[in-house]
Amino acid sequence: MKVLIPATTANLGPGFDLLGASLNIDNEIEAEFSESYSLIEEGYTEQKPFQEHLIAQIMVSFFKEFGITKPFALKTLNRIPFARGMGSSAAAIVGALLLANQMSKANLTNEDLLHRAIAIEGHPDNVAPALLGGVILTTKNKFLKLPPPQVEACLLIPEYKLETKKARAVLPKTIPLEIAVLNSAKLAQLVLALERGDGELFLESLADQLHEPYRGDLIPGFKMLRKKAEELGGKLIISGAGPALLYLKKKQAKPDAKLLAQIWSLPNEVLEVKIGANGALIAL
Ligand code: HSE
Repeated sequence: MKVLIPATTANLGPGFDLLGASLNIDNEIEAEFSESYSLIEEGYTEQKPFQEHLIAQIMVSFFKEFGITKPFALKTLNRIPFARGMGSSAAAIVGALLLANQMSKANLTNEDLLHRAIAIEGHPDNVAPALLGGVILTTKNKFLKLPPPQVEACLLIPEYKLETKKARAVLPKTIPLEIAVLNSAKLAQLVLALERGDGELFLESLADQLHEPYRGDLIPGFKMLRKKAEELGGKLIISGAGPALLYLKKKQAKPDAKLLAQIWSLPNEVLEVKIGANGALIAL
């Protein structure tokens, strides 16, 4: 049995920890019951042993919960770069839960799987769009699908890796009230922009006060590039916890992400992406 799970970009604009979108790149994971546990991984240079692999660990513990002790063989094809802010761990978690649910015939609903995925990942804004697809706003118990933004999007993906744990460690525990008000206003504006299909209003809404002011310093050159992006008429935001950067611009605008890529001091690759692609798929 095989599943395809998309990359995701979390923290869309002012939506820190609650607004994320699927992208049109996916990882594939195959699993079947077998004589012994095994793992073949393609696409990542670092290979982990079966017992230390996140997908394997999630599936083993899910099967145990549902009384299944049969070993299984795992095969992954990884196209989502690891530790870049593109939801590689969310894809692993969602893929593992979907496979384990199907293979065990536990018949948990998507909502049940999502709650489990959020508990493992610690925040919902990658796992929800990875499973459901599209742009997803997560409130405590709701997963609300919004229309995708009417903009062009490119990712600038550096070779440099940044672990989410490290990027979360620099965030403050509390924020001043006026910052909360400002961020909420921008988020409300962004949701309205999406509902109206207003690309310009969407771009204007991409202002964050909750994570970029702190994480900016973990990504050399980000603040300079963000300014340059605005001069070019677009917006540059941190994708998830970074270090990949998402460059957004009005539809039919000249795609000049390459210019930003060239002036960035970190070696990077530019990838045109579609925001709000399909969610996870089970390919039997
Ligand atoms: N909302 C999460 C964070 C996304 O910013 O830590 C991690 O990809």
